[in-house]
Amino acid sequence: MLRQFDILPNPKQLEFFKSKAKYTAYGGARGGGKSWAMRIKLVLLASRYAGINILLLRRTLGELRENHIIPLRALLNGVAVYKDSAKEFDFPNGSRIKLGYLDSESDVLQYQGQAYEVIGMEEATQFTYFQFLCLTECNRVSGSMTKPFTPRMYFTCNPGGVGNNWVKRLFIDREYRLNENPADYVFIKSLVYDNTFLMEHDPGYLRTLEALPEARKRAMLYGDWNSFEGMFFPEFDEAKHVIPDLRPSSEWVKFRALDYGLDMTACLWIAVTPERRLVVYRELCKPNLILSEAAAAIIKATPESENIRYTVASPDLWNRRQDSGKSGVQIMTEAGLKGLRRADSARIPGWRVMREYLRPGAEDGIPKLHITRSCKELIRCLPSLAFDPDTSEDASDVPHDITHAPEALRYAVMSREPRCEAKTPNDAGGTYSFGSRRIYAGNDDYFDI
Ligand SMILES: Nc1ncnc2c1ncn2[C@@H]1O[C@H](COP(=O)(O)OP(=O)(O)O)[C@@H](O)[C@H]1O
Ligand SMILES: [Mg+2]
Repeated sequence: MLRQFDILPNPKQLEFFKSKAKYTAYGGARGGGKSWAMRIKLVLLASRYAGINILLLRRTLGELRENHIIPLRALLNGVAVYKDSAKEFDFPNGSRIKLGYLDSESDVLQYQGQAYEVIGMEEATQFTYFQFLCLTECNRVSGSMTKPFTPRMYFTCNPGGVGNNWVKRLFIDREYRLNENPADYVFIKSLVYDNTFLMEHDPGYLRTLEALPEARKRAMLYGDWNSFEGMFFPEFDEAKHVIPDLRPSSEWVKFRALDYGLDMTACLWIAVTPERRLVVYRELCKPNLILSEAAAAIIKATPESENIRYTVASPDLWNRRQDSGKSGVQIMTEAGLKGLRRADSARIPGWRVMREYLRPGAEDGIPKLHITRSCKELIRCLPSLAFDPDTSEDASDVPHDITHAPEALRYAVMSREPRCEAKTPNDAGGTYSFGSRRIYAGNDDYFDI
């Protein structure tokens, strides 16, 4: 017989215990009693369902030990047998809780081919999307249970970290891809204020959270997913930059910005308002398009009546390809995409200019850049970009899938900036003197908007 556990969950933790959804995430901020809830939930499942196989994961061994192995050994002393070499608790009813950690991306492969009816991912935003996907494959019936059971996964999470994006997409933004069923994903938000135990026993912890720098406080105390430490564009604010969909006036100058790669074609359509603000009013973000398909998709997404002045695109499209001897630009032009112009791809100056565009205007408080609501990918990726840990002013290249739309936007803003030198000999245009600066104008239109 298992000992009755003396536990008293707070209301949010109880909600977590009761959820039988395929994927349940809990948390969103610091101190909400996440680790406690995960630990106890898994012990309850092991007690309730004889023969169940459960896997509990954290990123590092140190965290696993502190947060789970030590407290579980105390809790299950005399109830389940702990085997340190395998890091698992064996229950008298045949149930098993195995604990693990994934130091590197590929560590997840050790679970390939294994089967766990329940998998718990603690601090899920510390794991990559690849690791999550691999684990979903192991989340299946193991054959050692006597009664039927539908496999499930449980997650705890805070905003920020390498997995910020997939957790946010599935549980916060609820934007699903073809094979994902929205009903499978449940999020239970818990803040430190919900942790009655902590509020009573350690009110100093709350004061510590309240004293954090603003961005981190917004993430850690209030569970704001658009604000985390290391966020590359803290200037980005949906309330300020995202506007309802609009049809740009036929009078406005319009252009496109393209970041092409086989893994992702990211194309933005941008209009320049009479106040010289930029409005990104359409996007196309699609993986696995070869050059001619990408060109065709861009043309198809552009109404015939829309007069596109130019399309600024990744400079590497101008390189000749070994297979065909043609450049990407040639292939795209042959497919009908005309007016391609080589982007200024300088990263740090480009990000600086983008920051300027995102800042509220000095006089009216209105930023120079707006994005319409339908540009979902750009709105998702911009606030998720993180600083590169090694280069102080550059954005990180991981997770790579979120970098494409922001890079296209960087090309876009740079195409509006007068440049000090002509660096793009393939562009038709000239270099002009403007005051003491030499300005490269291409055949551009900075002066006619
Ligand atoms: N329902 C509860 N009963 C008793 N202690 C709890 C309960 N919920 C949380 N705690 C305790 O509160 C503290 C913070 O909880 P923890 O789960 O570590 O938070 P988080 O993982 O969200 O940062 C821990 O000491 C934990 O044991
Ligand atoms: Mg924790």
